[in-house]
Amino acid sequence: MMRNIAVLLAITAAGFQINAMPIDLADCPFPNGTDKQIHSYMCSDGEQFSITDIQTLDSKGNPLYPIDPSHPFILNLTTYNHGPQIDDNHVNVKINQYKSGWQGGCSWTALPTFGLLNGIDGCEFAHNCPLTSGPLFLILPLDLSQFSAIIDLIAANKPYELEIRMFNYNAGDTKHEEIACVMAQVELS
Ligand SMILES: *[C@@H]1O[C@H](CO)[C@@H](O)[C@H](O)[C@H]1NC(C)=O
Ligand SMILES: *[C@@H]1O[C@H](CO)[C@@H](O)[C@H](O)[C@H]1NC(C)=O
Repeated sequence: MMRNIAVLLAITAAGFQINAMPIDLADCPFPNGTDKQIHSYMCSDGEQFSITDIQTLDSKGNPLYPIDPSHPFILNLTTYNHGPQIDDNHVNVKINQYKSGWQGGCSWTALPTFGLLNGIDGCEFAHNCPLTSGPLFLILPLDLSQFSAIIDLIAANKPYELEIRMFNYNAGDTKHEEIACVMAQVELS
C-alpha cells in the first residue's frame, strides 16, 4: 500500500513537472507538409489576382527551402491578373507562428511585426511593376534581414505563415482595394 502511494506521488510529481514546462517547448507538427515544401493558398476569393503556385528562391534565383529569414529571399508567384494593369501597389505582410496554446492543440498566432511590414511600396520594393493583365509571374523579393526586431522573434526550424495582402495604388484609385491575398506557409530555418 505504501509503495503504491509512493508510485502514485512520483507519477503525480512527474505529471506536474510536465504541466509546468513552458508551453512553447511543446512542438507542433509541420502543417500541410511544410517541412518538405512551401504550402500556399489564397485567403480571399474573387480578387483581381488569382495565385496558383509559389516557388521559393534564394537571391540568385536558385530553389531554396527551408527559408533562412536572415537572408533575402524571393517568392515567385504564378498569378493571373483578371483586371486592368496595376502600375502602383502597396503590400502588407503579417507573420504567424504555428504553436500550441494554453488549451493544447496547435494554432496560428501573430508575431509582432511592429508595423514594419505594412504599406511596403510593391513597385519600389520588388521592381516588378507594371503588373500587366492576364497571366503573370509575380517576383516578390522579401528581405526580413533588415528587421532585426522581427528576426529575433523567429525560432529556427519551425512552421510560419506569411499573410501577404496587396492593394491597388494606381493613380486616380482612391479606394485602394485589396487585389490579392495569399497565405504562404513555410519552414523558417
Ligand atoms: C492547410 O492548408 C489549407 C488550404 O490549403 C488551409 O485551409 C488550412 O487552414 C491549412 N492548415 C493549417 C493548419 O494552417
Ligand atoms: C517563376 O516560375 C515560373 C513557373 O515555374 C518559371 O517559368 C519562371 O522561370 C520562374 N521565374 C524565376 C525568376 O525563377
